[in-house]
Amino acid sequence: MPEGGDQPQPRQHAGRLGDLTAQYPVPNHPGVPPSQTAGRVSKLYAVFTVCSLPAKGKAVISGLHHYALEVPDLSVAEGFLQDFGLETGEKDGSLVAMCPGRQQEQVRLVEAPAKRLHHVTFTLRPGTNDAVREALERSGTPVIEPPPGATEDGLWLRDPDGTAVQLLDEPQAPARPAAEVLVNMGGTRQRFDVAQWRTATEDVLPRRLGHSLLFTAQPARMTDFYTQVLGLRVSDTIHHDLVTFLNAGPGDHHIFGFISSTHRGFHHASFEVPSIDAIAVGADRMRAKGHQTGWGLGRHTIGSNFFHYNPDPWGSWIEWFSDIDQIDDCWVAGDWDVPPHLWGTPPPETFLANSEPTPTKE
Ligand SMILES: [Fe+2]
Repeated sequence: MPEGGDQPQPRQHAGRLGDLTAQYPVPNHPGVPPSQTAGRVSKLYAVFTVCSLPAKGKAVISGLHHYALEVPDLSVAEGFLQDFGLETGEKDGSLVAMCPGRQQEQVRLVEAPAKRLHHVTFTLRPGTNDAVREALERSGTPVIEPPPGATEDGLWLRDPDGTAVQLLDEPQAPARPAAEVLVNMGGTRQRFDVAQWRTATEDVLPRRLGHSLLFTAQPARMTDFYTQVLGLRVSDTIHHDLVTFLNAGPGDHHIFGFISSTHRGFHHASFEVPSIDAIAVGADRMRAKGHQTGWGLGRHTIGSNFFHYNPDPWGSWIEWFSDIDQIDDCWVAGDWDVPPHLWGTPPPETFLANSEPTPTKE
């Protein structure tokens, strides 16, 4: 049995594979047919840290700083991101978007003929810059020049899929502060003589970028690179490597991850909002502004966060989340046979469609 006290146990969910295959079509997944995996018993990953011992010092990435896309029309992008709740501006000839009240670029958009992932940027833990350079050298990963449209700050490299990665030797900016949420749920009684409906929708805008998931045709190789060279850790997986969630040490259950596909691409990015009310109000706002229907409201299985996704104008997704699991060095990764949602409607059939062009060799 794994360590970790009352952490969820993967075997509790074995047998729900039928739900997954019925509700979660995977049109681009090149892996094993469901019939070959249906009888497989969930397995535990080896414990990658031991609670009573300090982590091995490899968690050099402290979080996701921003992501960047090439898109064909910056004015369309600007309107969409503003409707989502971000503030936009121009920087170095690119469109950038930020969360209100947070001094950190969260999205960068570079004009190009077709939408595709441009780069991802992470922050490093203080004092780890030299260790990162050594790890890159050991793995034979060269430092590169920044791609056009990006800043020159930090270290630049390419991951095994060829995606440009920027590592910034700086801390994460604080998320916009949020009021404490007092609940009267379960056995908890915290709120007295307060009409919740009068304040529940006062603060509904994104506070910070939390995570992003990318498509990849080589999830094992990508996972090895991001864990062994850049020090992220596997939080959990679905169906072996159909979906892989990675963490950066104590904090959010996942800040990055991969979805198996025929080729690389950007799947979604997710922004924290202060409450489940904020998610629902955001979905209402997008509907009122005429945007396509999304997916949600629901609660995810892996990560446990409440969610709502909207399709972006380029065939990928943007998400609000709230109440994501917080993990520490005691977390034990598992491989789960579960659908992505604990409750709510199933995802639309287009949810796992990778609309990005197959990349050419660079
Ligand atoms: Fe997400």
